[in-house]
Amino acid sequence: MIKKFTLGDPVNTGAVVKSIEPSDLSGFPFEYRLDDKFVFRFSMEKSDIVYGLGEANRGINKRGWVYESWCSDDPFHTETKSSLYAAHNFIIIGGMNTGVFIDYPSKIRWDIGYTKADEAEITVGGTDLDIYVITADTPREISREFRGLIGKSYLPPFWAFGFQQSRWSYPDREAVDRVIDGYDSAGIPLDCVYLDIDYMKDYKDFTINEDRFPDFGSYVAEKKKNGIRLIPIIDAGIKAEDGYDIFEEGRKNGYFCKKSDGTDFEAGVWPGVCRFPDFMREDVREWFGSKYKRLTDMGIEGFWNDMNEPALFYSKEGIDSALDKAAELKGQNLDLGRFFNLKDTFTGLSNRYEDYASIFHTIDGRQVNHLDVHNIYGANMTRAAGEYFEKTFGEGSILMFSRASYIGAHRSSGIWFGDNHSWWSHILLNLKMLPGANMCGFLYCGADLGGFNENATRDLVMRFLALGVFTPLMRDHSALGTRDQECFAFENPGELRDIIQVRYRLIPYLYDTFKKARDNDDLIFRPLSFDYPDDKIARECETQLMLGEECMIAPVYEQNASGRTVYLPEDMTFVRLSGENVVKQELKKGVHYVDVELNEVPLFIKKGKKIPLCKPALRTALLDAEGAEFI
Ligand code: GLC
Repeated sequence: MIKKFTLGDPVNTGAVVKSIEPSDLSGFPFEYRLDDKFVFRFSMEKSDIVYGLGEANRGINKRGWVYESWCSDDPFHTETKSSLYAAHNFIIIGGMNTGVFIDYPSKIRWDIGYTKADEAEITVGGTDLDIYVITADTPREISREFRGLIGKSYLPPFWAFGFQQSRWSYPDREAVDRVIDGYDSAGIPLDCVYLDIDYMKDYKDFTINEDRFPDFGSYVAEKKKNGIRLIPIIDAGIKAEDGYDIFEEGRKNGYFCKKSDGTDFEAGVWPGVCRFPDFMREDVREWFGSKYKRLTDMGIEGFWNDMNEPALFYSKEGIDSALDKAAELKGQNLDLGRFFNLKDTFTGLSNRYEDYASIFHTIDGRQVNHLDVHNIYGANMTRAAGEYFEKTFGEGSILMFSRASYIGAHRSSGIWFGDNHSWWSHILLNLKMLPGANMCGFLYCGADLGGFNENATRDLVMRFLALGVFTPLMRDHSALGTRDQECFAFENPGELRDIIQVRYRLIPYLYDTFKKARDNDDLIFRPLSFDYPDDKIARECETQLMLGEECMIAPVYEQNASGRTVYLPEDMTFVRLSGENVVKQELKKGVHYVDVELNEVPLFIKKGKKIPLCKPALRTALLDAEGAEFI
């Protein structure tokens, strides 16, 4: 059952597709306080689990930390961060069999047992919001009801389940060709190569650097003939440059976000000073969405939307005040307070509160300050693209995923989990985000495999890939200046091929599992506690997940480990998959140490269940799903 409570005059975020009559707040099932904020609390028994918050930091069980819904451009996903790129305001309170979705586009503070271990206090930063309270018998049912409320998840094309290679950047045709040759010569399957910001001319959206990618359309067609799709990036900021047609059009038509004095807001991103389309407006979304046509006309069938929190490196005002401060302090003896204040002024130039506060949007004819709607900016950029694609190409034709997101964007795109690190702990962080993202409708998702920031080791890449084998988005991506991270770049690439081949063998199964989850508003990945609610070890398990109706996954996540300890909540078949090899072992319910070689993908299949495994192929288009054997 879903109950809706409306306070004040909420912004229509587009998150919900079902219309529900609001109830009176007197029926709100939590203790609450309403002044200039809306605060409610609930208590938790020791064994209660709180799930949710989608793409968020820390555990599957969100207890014991304080989270903040605030889409953040922050590449350091350390344990003590409260916000990442997304604002997914949905939790399931296990003990109460209750789900809560707060449809509110600005800051929400989720103190889930941080201040008091047995109490959660949720603070919504304003008083115009909708809250949905969902009750059902199980967390899975709650999640299903919620998904019915927010509408069907985005469906990617089939080839988007293939393996994808990215890096910041492959700056020209030769670099892209080297990647494809590297994969083909090593016999490693591949379907997509990514074009990061350097394919553009001076980082201008919807342009191509013709010196480095001459005759782009023919090049895209030539790659596609070889079964490879090129996937360009699109950033939120538009370079402010006279003569650049997108900028000129946006300026002339008043499409950019404003400042309080009515002039266009400006801030620096990759191209230097940019203006920012006011994606909150339908006419602006239509305009921006239609620009993707320039690339689809050249044969492009997939995109990733980036920097759409939006990320602001600096503003003129920020730089000026920092320089003034520096000038004022020049020659002075800087004591602790003054030195660190000066330092923080410069390190704090990016994504400054004052800059966000100076942005204004037009929503339904009203001027709205950015702070009040920050969390739906990126989602609306993606909606602009998604709506254009759906209208022009129909469902399931274009690959699209975004960095910033809000619930509702799950109908038009997938997400990736942003700039992680080549850290062992980030394998687990990736795993822990999956059920939450699924609960919020984001089925097509994944992390940068191998880790984005800093140098990866071969074994880390292999263990990361062995988890990525199961995530709908399977993409290896790494940052500028990091060591080569393509599978063929490491010694004995045949062993990395063994892992990618397993992915291709599983694609028919994974695609089918994806489709079922989408059609039934269900999860691809579930915490073990969803399936074994009375099993204490399963309830507390944060390193394994249920996959579909048939499987459990348990990746190796520690360096120099020859395997891992795994908990089986029932008898299962342990399967080690590597290239075309399949080694099976029956295991009883309980704790086991299982050996997993670096080139093996561990998988656990439930008793009485079978999954299809087809022959590997170099491209998804060459897979023979019909000829699959069942294991
Ligand atoms: C951002 C993105 C990253 C991309 C980089 C350059 O950091 O998150 O994936 O490679 O920008 O475009």
